[in-house]
Amino acid sequence: MEEGKGRKIIMFPLPFVGHFNPMIQLARIFHHRGFSVTILHTSFNFPDPSHYPLFTFRTIPHNNAGGEDPMTQPDVSSMDLVAFIRLLRQTYAEPFRQSLAAEVGREKTVCCLVYDAVWVRNTEVAAEELGIRRMVLITQGVASFCAFAALPLLRDKNYLHIQASRLHELVTEVPPLKVKDLPVMETNEPEEFYLIATDMVKGANSSSGVICNTFEDLERLSLMDISSKSQVPIFPIGPFHKHNDNVLPTTKNIEDHVTTNWLNKQEPESVIYVSFGSLADIEEKELLKIAWGLRNSERPFLWVVRPGFVRGTEWLEALPSGFVENIGQKGKFVKWVNQLEVLAHSAVGAFWTHCGWNSTLESICEGVPMICTPCFTDQFVNARYIVDVWRIGIELERTKMDKKEIERVLRSIISKEGDGIREMCSELKERANVCLRKDGSSSKYLDKLVNYVMSFDSNALAS
Ligand code: UDX
Repeated sequence: MEEGKGRKIIMFPLPFVGHFNPMIQLARIFHHRGFSVTILHTSFNFPDPSHYPLFTFRTIPHNNAGGEDPMTQPDVSSMDLVAFIRLLRQTYAEPFRQSLAAEVGREKTVCCLVYDAVWVRNTEVAAEELGIRRMVLITQGVASFCAFAALPLLRDKNYLHIQASRLHELVTEVPPLKVKDLPVMETNEPEEFYLIATDMVKGANSSSGVICNTFEDLERLSLMDISSKSQVPIFPIGPFHKHNDNVLPTTKNIEDHVTTNWLNKQEPESVIYVSFGSLADIEEKELLKIAWGLRNSERPFLWVVRPGFVRGTEWLEALPSGFVENIGQKGKFVKWVNQLEVLAHSAVGAFWTHCGWNSTLESICEGVPMICTPCFTDQFVNARYIVDVWRIGIELERTKMDKKEIERVLRSIISKEGDGIREMCSELKERANVCLRKDGSSSKYLDKLVNYVMSFDSNALAS
């Protein structure tokens, strides 16, 4: 397509897998519509540009001129996530401003900046100084974004100091969430978390528009809610990864082939795929409960145990000796997989997930039922929607996990006795396909988005 020809979009992703993936998928969507894309990326977690030949990458250096990169010092890896994001925002604020100015100076055809909602403070001033329009990408679901938007109200009503006795109470301000589903996280810096979350919402409301990786049929009520409270246009154009076969390029390693061969040998819809995304970590005792539960369920499983996933250990050494050998071919432990390929494999019967938004959407698109063990923030909200609203999964609370409960849930989800979960999965999968057809809602919103961005003056804020 020619639409965006000659126009450049600058993108600024947050440097974590769950945020970078959707930004790159969005970049491919814009590229497909004729725009060229430059990605400003932090020196921290800088990706290999050779994997993304369609785009220009520029490194944003850290602000310790001549000194050590503050993001790679040894104590940083053990920081809590909120403190880490605070440091990230501080470290790259000024370097981002300079990088954006350099890019805009170099290119006269820049029509807007698309940035991850979490960056807000870094981007607002810099973009406005340069007269560049800001479009926000929210990488989470819209329901959880609405819950973030309600945080000030929920704080006033004293919901945020969560008391054990109220966990199962419905929060009438954000139904169907219960107190335990509120998007909070364990952190030493609760005020900073509140600031990041509320900043995201303010930043989105003061931007030129919000792009969401969701689709109308999935989050209609939440989209109506956000639209009614915000003056800016909202573009639900997801699922991003399904546009024009928008699969990220991956270099297949030997382990991927071994995994596929193993999946090929399993019965249809028999395998439990277990993965808790790219950030969550668990304790040794939780690893043991999951391991025994999987073993006792006697179902084949594919389990992603990232190095560092189990606090204080390298990989699987916390498992009893001989455990992996005894499992034999019945189960497979890997450090990382191509999740999109795994979920699309006919042998996969259920996804035991932390309910990160990408994982949730990827599972919906393949019609795979979920076992929901959320770990922090938006994952609690996603889990409630998966279980109670879309009815495509079963809850397995982290605090209630024990061998017996795990075994019960795993057996019931694979046995298909459930209450229509598989039928609902098939229906939602179909609806995700429909929204991407030429006359589907996401395609129509994408056309609107392209026209909207095309209407921006290059390098100039519209009045
Ligand atoms: C985080 C948050 O948890 C999530 O809720 C938020 O919306 C985005 O940032 P993360 O925890 O990593 O992301 O989870 P998720 O959103 O599910 O993203 C993980 C991504 O990594 C998915 O796209 C998944 O396909 C990919 N992945 C994960 C792999 O490709 N292989 C793996 O082995 C594990």
